[in-house]
Amino acid sequence: MNSPRTIGVGLISVGWMGQLHSRAYSALPVMYPELGIKPRLVVAADTNPERAQYAVDVLGYERGVTDYHEVLTDPEVEVVSICAPNFLHAEIGAAAAAAGKAFWIEKPVGRSADETQAVVDAADAAGVATAVGFNYRNAPAIEYARKIIAEGKLGRINNVRGAFFADYSAEPNGALSWRFIRNLAGSGVLGDLLGHLTDLAHYVVGPIDSVAATTKTVYAERPKLPMGQATHFAVVENGEMAPVENEDYAGLLVRFGPDAVGAGAVGTLEASRVTVGPRAEYSLEVYGTEGSLRWNFERMNELELALGYDGPHVGFTRVMAGPDFGDFSHFQPGAGTSMGYDDFKVVEAKKFLLSFVGQDSAHADVHDALAANRVVYAGEQAAASRAWVDVEQVAGTTAARNTSAVPSAAGASA
Ligand SMILES: NC(=O)c1ccc[n+]([C@@H]2O[C@H](COP(=O)([O-])OP(=O)(O)OC[C@H]3O[C@@H](n4cnc5c(N)ncnc54)[C@H](O)[C@@H]3O)[C@@H](O)[C@H]2O)c1
Repeated sequence: MNSPRTIGVGLISVGWMGQLHSRAYSALPVMYPELGIKPRLVVAADTNPERAQYAVDVLGYERGVTDYHEVLTDPEVEVVSICAPNFLHAEIGAAAAAAGKAFWIEKPVGRSADETQAVVDAADAAGVATAVGFNYRNAPAIEYARKIIAEGKLGRINNVRGAFFADYSAEPNGALSWRFIRNLAGSGVLGDLLGHLTDLAHYVVGPIDSVAATTKTVYAERPKLPMGQATHFAVVENGEMAPVENEDYAGLLVRFGPDAVGAGAVGTLEASRVTVGPRAEYSLEVYGTEGSLRWNFERMNELELALGYDGPHVGFTRVMAGPDFGDFSHFQPGAGTSMGYDDFKVVEAKKFLLSFVGQDSAHADVHDALAANRVVYAGEQAAASRAWVDVEQVAGTTAARNTSAVPSAAGASA
């Protein structure tokens, strides 16, 4: 084997996602030895010095700092993971591009479509590779679903139903983390969970071109949580209360545009952070003229599949992800032995670093983030106006790239 290509990594923010990106970089050479890529964890930044030190002591970075600019000016850093809270994404994304660093940024890339557009413009102008943390598209069952839809196995797609229902804030005393404050997060569950779901629908079915929407804030106030402490799953008893500034629930009616594999399909996309029962029940269901499929993150290694409508075997069959599904074989030798959430990020790290070394890996980049962000933004406008809103389309996304596999059925539904 040739000597590995070492890639210097910088990390900005050592919270949940920063730690996960780091584990993914460390696992990559073990799961994908044939790529000859070896990430070197150079420097991590967090304003909380204990977290910066954790990056050194536990995650294996060579240095820990409290000012993220030191990550961007370090000549040993070639790629940067941006895992800061949402309000810093546009600032850091543009600064990373200006410093000539490729970057893997968490979603939502911007608090608004305008902020995301600014990051896209900066990355395009600098010509740096980018990746976005839309991890659910890396599930092998989702890759398989996408493939069979593109092959036409479900026939013409009629309707799509997606629901990302979480309970991380179902408890009324669930902490008021930065996620609930408009200036720090932007929208609420629209940008947080519905952005993920929109990207999944774009990836599997194709671009959405119009939306109607409604939103609701279930809990008007919550106990405060200082930045950099605990997670958004925390519950604070007898804390000082402050207002929740964005929505807990969002529901969209959507239409898929003429460039989609599922051109002419309609559907519903919902997200909630306050459901009681679903823990992280993130589901996508696709219904076509010849068959249907359903996927749910809580059972992420399974796909429910119905193909055809003849004979006694009508109805869903449960299929376990296996070696012929996506990147499954890199993680487990046979169907039934399950992959986990962290593995999605290892796949994402692989796609990012492949694009960094110049190999197109059809992964989610900042253009896909802008496409998802525009749907979210249209949803905010539609909820306010109670009218349908057209979504401005984005060139160069993964959704648009893969639409030639199936003849367009646009106009077949009405
Ligand atoms: N892809 C996914 O499924 C997924 C899941 C969770 C979070 N996220 C996204 O990841 C991002 C981070 O979320 P999280 O859950 O890891 O947050 P977190 O609250 O766990 O961590 C955020 C960290 O940022 C640090 N920080 C704050 N200001 C900083 C600054 N100026 N410079 C450097 N560090 C700073 C905080 O001290 C904290 O350690 C968010 O954009 C979120 O939407 C994505």
